[in-house]
Amino acid sequence: MKLQPLVEEKVGFLIVFTLIVISFGLLVQIVPLFASKEVITPTEGVKPYNALQVAGRDIYVREGCYNCHSQQVRPFRAETERYGHYSVAGESVYDHPFQWGSKRTGPDLARVGGRYSDEWHRIHLLNPRDVVPESNMPAFPWLARNKVDADEVVRHMKALNKVGVPYTEEDYAKAADELKNKSELDAVVAYLQGLGLALKNKR
Ligand code: HEC
Repeated sequence: MKLQPLVEEKVGFLIVFTLIVISFGLLVQIVPLFASKEVITPTEGVKPYNALQVAGRDIYVREGCYNCHSQQVRPFRAETERYGHYSVAGESVYDHPFQWGSKRTGPDLARVGGRYSDEWHRIHLLNPRDVVPESNMPAFPWLARNKVDADEVVRHMKALNKVGVPYTEEDYAKAADELKNKSELDAVVAYLQGLGLALKNKR
């Protein structure tokens, strides 16, 4: 049987051939990215999160902040005017898993670092209405009461190391000190204040 009638008359073959064509297209688009320097090299100024920021990031994920906040400035004028430089792949090389997201009940947070003071963030996280009266963001009062567990954070840093984040024995050793008496609130604020600084002042 010739190929053309096979594909045009037998729907099973049509489906199989269609999947082959699509898979090939995806491979051609995606596989080269694994080796693309622009994608896998950290953007200048991007450093691995310190221990407190790792703790904050875990809490960000635990509390589901990503359900309302994306961390990805798209390359459109309306976005760059509001948030700053669009996000690039090299900013996320140490993010496992990345927090790009797409749901924006609240603003994008990719460049929120340095936009407000630590004190603003503390008040805002404990009760958003105290600083933004019309806010419908939930309050997270328990963050101030819970302490960060240093052992857990170090275990997580070691796991991140396995997927390529260059932490050293020295980083693990000083983590306990860095996290001493830190609350979850301290951690989330440290994480937020570090977001997007590498390209902050670029346009
Ligand atoms: C139910 C949706 C929702 C959730 C969940 C949520 N937020 Fe928000 N967030 C908002 C909204 C809406 C705003 C805008 C009003 C305001 O500033 O409070 C906002 C604003 C913010 C801002 C200020 C951003 C800016 O540029 O002005 C920060 C920072 C922030 N949220 C952090 C967090 C963190 C951290 C968490 C998780 C602990 C979180 N949010 C969870 C809805 C949410």
